[in-house]
Amino acid sequence: MTGRVRTTELPTLRCRGLRLRFGARPILDGLDLDVGRGEALAIMGPSGSGKTSLLHCLAGLRQPDAGDISVAGAELTRMSHRQRARVRLNSIGMVFQFGELLDELTVGENVELPLRLRRERGTAAGRLLGSVGLADRGGSWPAELSGGEVQRVAIARALAGRPVLLLADEPTGALDEGLSRAVGELLRSSASAVGAALVVATHDPIVASSMDRTARLRHGQLVAA
Ligand SMILES: Nc1ncnc2c1ncn2[C@@H]1O[C@H](COP(=O)(O)OP(=O)(O)O)[C@@H](O)[C@H]1O
Ligand SMILES: [Mg+2]
Repeated sequence: MTGRVRTTELPTLRCRGLRLRFGARPILDGLDLDVGRGEALAIMGPSGSGKTSLLHCLAGLRQPDAGDISVAGAELTRMSHRQRARVRLNSIGMVFQFGELLDELTVGENVELPLRLRRERGTAAGRLLGSVGLADRGGSWPAELSGGEVQRVAIARALAGRPVLLLADEPTGALDEGLSRAVGELLRSSASAVGAALVVATHDPIVASSMDRTARLRHGQLVAA
């Protein structure tokens, strides 16, 4: 015994008792969730089960009706809209179903967007594009990319701001099976390489199998799968 008190490391993402209802219908019903640094979780559940709504809460885009969400110690549920936007910009990366690149920016400019929004010099695009196997595409336009390439760029952009939490909503929903596996594995390896906690909402078992664990969203709660 050294006599020194060890501080327990909190999970990067910690949710307790989340409740959300649309009208009379409960979507989240006392949901608890912990995801540690570098850990990857797949959330599965049928369409309409509330996966996107949950991710919106985790991103601070929507306030749940009750419960607590903490991202690397920042208590999102106790913050103003503006404070949550700042946490999102500095600590959270997001990947969507169709990539959602900005068509009027080049691939490289898309990747540097999170840094530009933080008024940091964007010099990381080349390295980030290299890490997703697209080193030579920085000058291309999004319209010139295939669906799989768009998602690779979206992953590079989500990582550009060095997030502690990476959220992906049906990231392979528009891809065929072979590409889905590759994109799922890329998400997993990219997140663990930077030590980000990863939460992927997916109905795709191939993608889920690339993560450390899978939980199912049922009746507004997460149950281990
Ligand atoms: N802004 C909203 N207002 C009312 N109902 C909504 C809203 N967003 C989603 N819903 C409903 O909440 C349920 C869960 O939706 P969603 O979170 O998109 O599920 P999933 O992503 O699992 O398909 C669905 O029944 C959907 O119609
Ligand atoms: Mg959804």
